[in-house]
Amino acid sequence: MNITLSNGKTIPVEMHRARIVQKITLPPVARRLQAIEEGGYNTFLLRNRDVFLDMLTDSGTNAMSDNQLAAMMVADDAYAGSESFYKLAAAVKDVLGFDYTMPVHQGRAAEHLLAKVFVKPGDVVPMNYHFTTTKAHFELAGATVLEIYGPETLNTQSTELFKGNIDLRRFADAIKKYGADKIPFVRMEATTNLVGGQPFSLRNLHQVKELAAQHHIPLVFDGSLISENAYFIKQREEGYADKSISEIIREMASLADIYYCSGRKSTSVRGGMIATNSKDYYDRLRVWLVVYEGFPTYGGMSIKEVDAMAVGLREMTDFSVAGSAPEFIQYFVGRLLENGVPVVTPAGGLACHVDAARFLAHLPQSQYQAGALAAAIYIASGVRSMERGTISMDRDAQGNEVYADLELARLALPRRVFTLSQIEYAVDRLTWLYQHRHLVKGLRFVEEPPVLRFFFGRLEALDNWGAELAKAFESDFGPHC
Ligand code: F0G
Repeated sequence: MNITLSNGKTIPVEMHRARIVQKITLPPVARRLQAIEEGGYNTFLLRNRDVFLDMLTDSGTNAMSDNQLAAMMVADDAYAGSESFYKLAAAVKDVLGFDYTMPVHQGRAAEHLLAKVFVKPGDVVPMNYHFTTTKAHFELAGATVLEIYGPETLNTQSTELFKGNIDLRRFADAIKKYGADKIPFVRMEATTNLVGGQPFSLRNLHQVKELAAQHHIPLVFDGSLISENAYFIKQREEGYADKSISEIIREMASLADIYYCSGRKSTSVRGGMIATNSKDYYDRLRVWLVVYEGFPTYGGMSIKEVDAMAVGLREMTDFSVAGSAPEFIQYFVGRLLENGVPVVTPAGGLACHVDAARFLAHLPQSQYQAGALAAAIYIASGVRSMERGTISMDRDAQGNEVYADLELARLALPRRVFTLSQIEYAVDRLTWLYQHRHLVKGLRFVEEPPVLRFFFGRLEALDNWGAELAKAFESDFGPHC
C-alpha cells in the first residue's frame, strides 16, 4: 500500500510480513563476468546461484501466501475427480464468473489448445499486442498475428494511461480487410507484457467486445495479470475509484468469451487455465486437453498447485495483493527517472522496463541493444533482467532479422519478494551503469536456435566489452562488490 510519509514522500509499504526467507548471495564482479560469458551473454542461461536479485520474471516466482501453502498440504491427490479441482472451479465461478474450468500446465499450454481448436492456416488474429509464446503458437497453426494498438503504445515516454488499449478503427479496418470468417477471435492481454506491462481500460474492453460481437468474433482474454490491470483501472479510469478489485475483475471477465491465463503470475502458482461459459467451446477444447495436458480435473498441473491456485484466485482480488507489484514498480521507475535513467512510462505491471534504445543509443539495433543492456546490468549488479527486444523476435521465413518495436531490459518484480533496500541497490547500480554506458557495446550470435531463440541463443560481446565494464566497476567499487 502506498503511504505518504511526514516529509511528503510516498513509499510502497509491504502489507505482509516475511516469516520464511531464502538466503541469496552477491557474487563478486569477476565471477559475474565469468558467469555471463559461460551463459553466452544470455541471462536465461545463468545459474540462479550466480544471481543476486532475480528479476528475470514474475512467472512462478511470486511469494505464495500462508493460506496457499496450507492449501497445498490438504490437496486431494486423485487422477480423476479431485476435490482440489472443485475448489478451483468454485473460485473461478466466484471470482471470474465462468461455469467451465480447464486447468493446463501453464499459459502457453492454453495457447496451444486455443490454436489447435480455433486457428486455421491463413487466419488473422488481432490483439492489443503479442506475447512470445502466443505468437509462436498462432503462427505454428498457420495464422498471422495482427497488433492493433493505439498511437501511444510504442512511445516509451508517454503519459497515456492505457497503452494496452486496442485501436478500434484499426480493429474495424482489419475486419473489413480480412473478413470476420478469417478472424477466429480477437485477443486482449492484461497487461501487455512486451510493451511494458501496460493496462487497457474497461471502456476500451467494452468497445472491443461490442465491435467483435457485431461480427460474431469471440473475445479471448489473456488474464495472466488481470489483478494488476484491475488495480490500474481502479487507480486511473474515471468511474472506477470506488469499485473493488473484485468488482472490476468480474466486469472484465464478463466480457470474455474465452478466458485463459498463465497462473504463474496473478495467482502465484505454477499452472494455468482456460475458462468459459460456452459448453460448445468447452467440449471442443476438452478433447485436446486430455491429449496434450491431462485429465480435466488436473490438466497437467500438480494437484497441490491446483488447490493453491483456488486460493490465489481469491487472494488476487485483495487491493493490497493486486497493488503490491505495481506500487513497487512505480517506486522503482520513479527513482530511475529522478536519476535520468531512461525507463518506460507510465510505470506498468510486471516490471520496471529500461528503454535500451535510449540507454544504449550509441548502438545500432542490429547489435541487440536490449540483450547487451541485460548482460551489462548483470555484470554491474548481479541483478538478472530479461531481454525484451529483437533477440525475443525470431527471424522471418527468409531468414531476415525482424526488429522489435521496442528494445527493453525488463526488471520484473515478483510479488512480495523484494524489499525497498534491494530496489535502492538496483537503482544505484543502474544509475552507475548509465553513467558508464559508453563502455557497453553490441552482441553477436554464436548459436542461434530457429524458434524462441531468446531462451537458448548464445552470443558474444563485441570487442570484449564485458571485461572492460567489469574492470571499470571494480576500480570504482573494489573486487568484492
Ligand atoms: N501470456 C502472457 C501475457 C504472459 O506474460 C505469459 C508468460 C504467457 C501468456 C505464457 O504463460 O509462461 O505460463 O506458459 N509470461 C512469462 C514472463 C514467461 O516471463 O513474462 P506461461
